[in-house]
Parts: sequence; structure tokens; C-alpha cells
Amino acid sequence: MKKFEKLSRAKYDKKAPKYDRTIDGHYCARFKRKLVETISVSDGEKVLDVGCGNGTLIGWISQKAKIQAFGVDISAKMIDECRVRHPHIDFNVSLADSLPFGDNEFDVITMCCVLHHLDEPQKFFPEVKRVLKPGGRLIISDPWYPPPFKQFAEYVVFPIHNAGDNKLFTRTQFKNFFTENGFSVLNTYYRGDVQTIIGLAPSAPGMYSERP
Ligand SMILES: C[S@@+](CC[C@H](N)C(=O)[O-])C[C@H]1O[C@@H](n2cnc3c(N)ncnc32)[C@H](O)[C@@H]1O
Repeated sequence: MKKFEKLSRAKYDKKAPKYDRTIDGHYCARFKRKLVETISVSDGEKVLDVGCGNGTLIGWISQKAKIQAFGVDISAKMIDECRVRHPHIDFNVSLADSLPFGDNEFDVITMCCVLHHLDEPQKFFPEVKRVLKPGGRLIISDPWYPPPFKQFAEYVVFPIHNAGDNKLFTRTQFKNFFTENGFSVLNTYYRGDVQTIIGLAPSAPGMYSERP
């Protein structure tokens, strides 16, 4: 396991029973509320929340339609919380860049306040592309700060917080993760410190090709 993975797992295992009452539990609540307002899901769709914490977001999404809901998180204690709170949802302990699912399984994948925890975020996108169906939606929300607040967060707040927060992304870096991995950007939402992108996985080859 890599540096920020170890730190995240240790810290969120400790926070799990009281996560909603911790500082980052409160902080991420705003991101989740915006994400759930933004997302649209339909009956029958298969939806996965990566880095699902205690399962609140996927719980809310599963109230919007009759979806098949899944969540994964690196913290086994967070997953224990998820299973108690949402017995109808399927949860697994897993790393974001090594998902325990087959190819082309999901219609929608969400990730809220997790991207900046990853040791190698560039490895997450090909993995998501693998498990998403062609044309599936990827919705990521992550904190954004302009300089010098970004640097203050990375060099002062993150080491003090010591919860596996690695690196914040500029709007360009955030968007590039999608486009460089073949996703088309359907929508971007920037509100204060909340940045959210909805991307579409590449369609099956020839799916929309014009007839000769
Ligand atoms: C700030 S919390 C956000 C939790 C939840 N998404 C929310 O919005 O409340 C970050 C979560 O990401 C998980 N996490 C961190 N690194 C991860 C990784 N590499 N793979 C999977 N989960 C990870 C942590 O265990 C924690 O539950």
C-alpha cells in the first residue's frame, strides 16, 4: 500500500464511527449535497460511489431512482458503518485504482472529496473507464482553492490533518484527467471551493458513426 493510502486508511478507520461529526465530515457534506442535486439517475441503472465513506452519498442517490447501488472505500471501518446504515447497498473494501468489478459494469460512477487523497490519481481514470459501460457517466467533486490557499492547504493543513490528503488540482488539471483519458466533459460546476465535473466515457467504437 502506498503512502497516502496508508494514511487515509488509518485515519478513516479511526473516524468511521463519528465521521459525520468530524471537521471533514461537515466539510464534505456540502460537496455531497451539491453532487446529489447535480446527478440524474434512472431506474435499473448500476451506480458505484468510490471512496464512499460511511455511505451517505450512495444512500441519497439510491433514493432518487430504483438503482443498483454499490460503494467501495479503502477503510474497512467505514465499510462496516456503511453496511449497518444501508443494508440494501452492496459495499466492498477496495482501492480506487483497483476496483473489484468486471469490465463495462456500471452506468454511473461518483467520487466525492476523494481524488485529492489518491497517491496516483492518473491510475484511477483508466480503471474507471474499464468498469464503466461505454458512454457511462463519471461525476467527481473535489475541493478547489486558488493560490496561495491551495499551497497553504497542501503544505500546512494537510500535514496537520494527517488523513492522507495528497494534492489539490487546478481547474485545468481536474478537467485534463477526464479529457486525457478519453472522457468527454458533459458539464462543469464551479461554486466557491466546490468543483464538479460530469464526464462521459468513450462510446463503443462505431456506436455513433455515420453511415457511409
Ligand atoms: C474526505 S473522505 C470523503 C468520504 C465520502 N466520499 C464523503 O463525501 O463523505 C475520503 C474518503 O476516501 C477514502 N479513501 C482515501 N483514499 C482512498 C483510496 N485510495 N481508495 C479508496 N478510498 C479511499 C477514505 O477512506 C475516506 O472514506
